[in-house]
Amino acid sequence: MLFYFTGTGNSLFVARQIEEHPISIPQVIHWENLEFSAERIGVAAPIYGHEVPPMVKEFLKRGTFHTDYFYMVLTYGNRHGGTAELAKQLCDECGIAVRYINVIQMMDNWLPGFVKRYARPRRFD
Ligand SMILES: Cc1cc2nc3c(=O)[nH]c(=O)nc-3n(C[C@H](O)[C@H](O)[C@H](O)COP(=O)(O)O)c2cc1C
Repeated sequence: MLFYFTGTGNSLFVARQIEEHPISIPQVIHWENLEFSAERIGVAAPIYGHEVPPMVKEFLKRGTFHTDYFYMVLTYGNRHGGTAELAKQLCDECGIAVRYINVIQMMDNWLPGFVKRYARPRRFD
């Protein structure tokens, strides 16, 4: 069982390499009962500001996961910073015994970063 959150498809692409039919977090987040059981349960999501997106945080906080192997695969574009450590902390806070967290570099889509790096207006006065 693998849950995913994606803005532009990178994390869905990664999720589909792992499981044929990953489950969309936005589609289940409004369920009253977020209790899941499986041999292994994973979350694939992008890194937003060196953290997991707010909806993924909410999913981890509200969810109950019965599994021997909980894992996270987080995609990023440029700098993952200490995301894996922050995600581990978040799992600890949520009472989730996470067994594996990794980050995967993908196409960057955080557009403000490009504005800063490549298209900053110059003043010559
Ligand atoms: C709001 C926002 C914040 C982001 N913050 C980061 C960041 O802190 N570090 C980074 O390397 N990439 C950052 N990115 C880029 C995404 O993590 C990266 O492109 C990711 O693979 C997108 O996955 P998705 O297509 O599944 O949404 C950010 C993107 C967005 C839209």
